Amino acid sequence: MTDINTLKNEISAQVSASADLQALEEVRVSALGKKGRVTELMKTLGDMDPEQRKTQGPALNALKDEIAALIEKQEKALKKQALDQRLVNERMDVTLSVRPERKGKIHPISQTMEELVTIFGAMGYSVAEGPDIEDDWHNFTALNFPPGHPAREMQDTFFLPDDPEQNGEHAKKLLRTHTSSVQIRHMKANKPPFKIICFGRTYRSDYDMTHTPMFHQMECLHVAKGITMGHLKGCLTDFVQGFFGIDDLPVRFRPSFFPFVEPGAEVDIGYFKKGDGIQLGKAPTPEDQRWMEILGAGMVHKNVLINGGVDPEEYQGFAFGMGLERATMLKYGIPDLRTFFESDTRWLNHYGFDPLERPNSATRG
Ligand code: DAH
Repeated sequence: MTDINTLKNEISAQVSASADLQALEEVRVSALGKKGRVTELMKTLGDMDPEQRKTQGPALNALKDEIAALIEKQEKALKKQALDQRLVNERMDVTLSVRPERKGKIHPISQTMEELVTIFGAMGYSVAEGPDIEDDWHNFTALNFPPGHPAREMQDTFFLPDDPEQNGEHAKKLLRTHTSSVQIRHMKANKPPFKIICFGRTYRSDYDMTHTPMFHQMECLHVAKGITMGHLKGCLTDFVQGFFGIDDLPVRFRPSFFPFVEPGAEVDIGYFKKGDGIQLGKAPTPEDQRWMEILGAGMVHKNVLINGGVDPEEYQGFAFGMGLERATMLKYGIPDLRTFFESDTRWLNHYGFDPLERPNSATRG
């Protein structure tokens, strides 16, 4: 009996001293394993005389059960302890800011589009879309330059095979020369008033320092009752000052011709020479003020409203269109247009934007 008690005390001391599951397993093997101390003791039962076996048998079985129960209890305690430890170690602070892991960059054109969405979104405009592959009617005729109109010559593009399921100018497929075609598509598909901007790729057969065969434009269309040139001037002035982040950026309207507007204007922004370069903004003296054109604008021509299914007696509107590359080059000081499309990652690393710092109304312009 003393043997059993000593053994029990020894083993239970070892069990409670096991600091982890592996140590506990070793204790279990040394007590209850095939050659364990308790197992060995059980084997002696066979050699005992029946009297002795009667008392020792139940005592040894009880010992075995007790040890097994102790081990199980310790195992549960160790597992719980391990879990608690992990919960403490692996705790994460969801209030920490995101790690600045600079994996990719946002292309400057995409950044400009985001900025424009922010600015025009705040003015209540929504974003419309149209296809890159247009037909002659939407790209030209509906915008008031019918076949043979001389203004078509300024916008030579890439033509695709005719669509056999369409007739006349609807059958003639081409890559759109401007986003103005989206004006027509949007008017035909919706009811006025309209207040939209639209972005997209546009195409012309040009290639030199300042022209690439594919480039991007933004179009704006606002049609409602009683819209005047005053609305156009107010909207454009707010937009360019916000976009370039210069509150007193001078804006100038020059009469110009586009078939789809009447009157039409080209819009210039002010700059002046500074050192070897230029700076956008109001010149220190009026004589130093220079101007550069950034977009075309005007009051939507009556024929365009009619082609869009809108009654010009009831509704008036303004529109403008702007090249995104040029605006982006001016805003961020990017010197060569062609580099936008060369997919040079060094260029993108230098001129691109952090994906985690997309513009919002607080960072606008
Ligand atoms: N679509 C013209 C172009 O690509 C730009 C333009 C001028 C758009 C005047 C307009 C506008 O909406 O009113 O040259």
